[in-house]
Amino acid sequence: MNIADLTTDDVANAAELWREAGLSRPWNPPERDIERALSGEMSTVLGGFDDRGLVATVMVGHDGHRGWVYYLAVTDRCRGTGLGKRMLEAAEQWLRERGAVKVQLMVRSGNDSVLGFYEHLGYEDADVQVRAKWLI
Ligand SMILES: CC(C)(COP(=O)(O)OP(=O)(O)OC[C@H]1O[C@@H](n2cnc3c(N)ncnc32)[C@H](O)[C@@H]1OP(=O)(O)O)[C@@H](O)C(=O)NCCC(=O)NCCS
Repeated sequence: MNIADLTTDDVANAAELWREAGLSRPWNPPERDIERALSGEMSTVLGGFDDRGLVATVMVGHDGHRGWVYYLAVTDRCRGTGLGKRMLEAAEQWLRERGAVKVQLMVRSGNDSVLGFYEHLGYEDADVQVRAKWLI
């Protein structure tokens, strides 16, 4: 698997992967999220590509204080083969290269099955509650 920034040509495939992985929500059109991250100077979406095309993604960004990871996904047929770990490590390296000293991520309530994966890779419970407000 090669890892590279997505381009606008990959948007539809990434959106489909997120739908398949259960990461999309009706109020967050994936295409818009991808295009926003790709156009930011301190954010990107990394894609993992094998000979059949896009098989994994991770969105990564540095907000000036912390690094954040979103939309980590591996296509169903490739799970359990180390690709999720490689994508997360690529996101961590992207952040390190931009001066981030800590990376954080959010796991939706109900997606408890991924908690073991993150814990295995060194992600601890940060003991915080997240609050959010729409600005548009
Ligand atoms: C979460 C996800 C990205 C993991 O990707 P993956 O390619 O299947 O995981 P990997 O094969 O890279 O696993 C890496 C390591 O974690 C371990 N691991 C995986 N799932 C685990 C679990 N639930 N508990 C403990 N360890 C786990 C693996 O055994 C492997 O260990 P090793 O490196 O010592 O061999 C994938 O399952 C996925 O796309 N899920 C749906 C989307 C999703 O929920 N994303 C997270 C949003 S917060």
